[in-house]
Amino acid sequence: MPMYSEKVMDHFMNPRNVGEIEDADGIGEEGNPVCGDMMTFYIKVKDNRLEDVKFQTFGCGAAVAVSSIVSEMAKGKTLEEALTITPSLVAHELEGLPKNKYHCSNLGAQALRKAIRDYAQKRGITIKGLEMKGEQDEEGEES
Ligand code: FES
Repeated sequence: MPMYSEKVMDHFMNPRNVGEIEDADGIGEEGNPVCGDMMTFYIKVKDNRLEDVKFQTFGCGAAVAVSSIVSEMAKGKTLEEALTITPSLVAHELEGLPKNKYHCSNLGAQALRKAIRDYAQKRGITIKGLEMKGEQDEEGEES
């Protein structure tokens, strides 16, 4: 069995939605201090839906594939639906990830989540599913 699924390879070689949204409604950045990989998600929201999603990723191949699939999964969804995108769902959508690459899918789900939270904070609104435990864990350590 190859280490990466064809879907991972496809999204790595031809990542969708790469780039920056200049007038983004929300921006979320997530990094992993261990591997040093970084991901930034930009979202554009209209009528509570993710009208556009773009990303910039400086990371491993799996991280690129993860960001690409997350952007595809999120686009067109309502904010509430987008918040149900979990790392395991991302890995599933990619037809599996090697075990030592699971954290890469975590990065994608978290970066999208942070972008949605950024949007919610700017608007002063609450979104169902946004306040979930385990989220603060990753924060507060940045200088
Ligand atoms: Fe860290 Fe992939 S090795 S995001």
